[in-house]
Amino acid sequence: MTTRLIVAIDVPKFERAKELIDMLAPLDVLFKVGYEAIYGYGEAILALLEARRANYMLDVKLHDIPRTVHAAVHALVRPGLRLLTVHALGGNAMLQAAVEAAQERAAELRIEPPGVLAITILTSIAPEDLNELGLQGGPGENAIRLAALARDARCSGVVCSVHEVADLKAFFGQQFVAVTPGIRPAGTSHGDQARVATPREAQAAGADYIVVGRPVVGDADPYNAARFILDELAAPLRT
Ligand code: C5P
Repeated sequence: MTTRLIVAIDVPKFERAKELIDMLAPLDVLFKVGYEAIYGYGEAILALLEARRANYMLDVKLHDIPRTVHAAVHALVRPGLRLLTVHALGGNAMLQAAVEAAQERAAELRIEPPGVLAITILTSIAPEDLNELGLQGGPGENAIRLAALARDARCSGVVCSVHEVADLKAFFGQQFVAVTPGIRPAGTSHGDQARVATPREAQAAGADYIVVGRPVVGDADPYNAARFILDELAAPLRT
């Protein structure tokens, strides 16, 4: 099973993002561009990724009325965009609008459509917060229910923890894409991630992509840190 590495470019300045992208672009990685980069230097980083012919994920976590989300996705689809995120809590019509816009715009540009990934329950939401929000049940139940909603709306998959991958694949099929953050290579700091897994554990669980931020971009040698993870993913799995 192939598990690909996505490096989260979560840095405040474009100059540093550019250094990282130039350094890591020769490797077989995708880049994740999130709020910090999009709101801080969005056009510059998108132009750079396009110029470097890099593949990337836009972690835009869209959540608005269907027409607005359709327009946003239409504006975001470009060559190199492989994955983009939307909140499952936006509902079925919004999710469908995102998937349709991705397909329509990609057809206009004659490129592969990006996969639309749903965010189910943010990991920062505690069980007691769910009740306050009017959602019954625990985080796990809500995550599965929202993943089903995403699947019904023809989303490609979800962002989830390594611990949820096996259940998601069992319920929704192997082709339902699982992208897992919270990855820490053995021996690196956990930062603020409470539940972590190694790249190898994520791969063994069936993750299609792992998202790694600080252990790569915060390392004194990001190129080597990324290569180390790629080597770990390339080694044959012993079962
Ligand atoms: O630096 P670190 O490896 O923790 O970065 C992980 C990336 O994945 C960050 O961009 C973070 O926003 C994102 N993420 C996460 N946990 C989630 C969803 C997204 O860490 N549940």
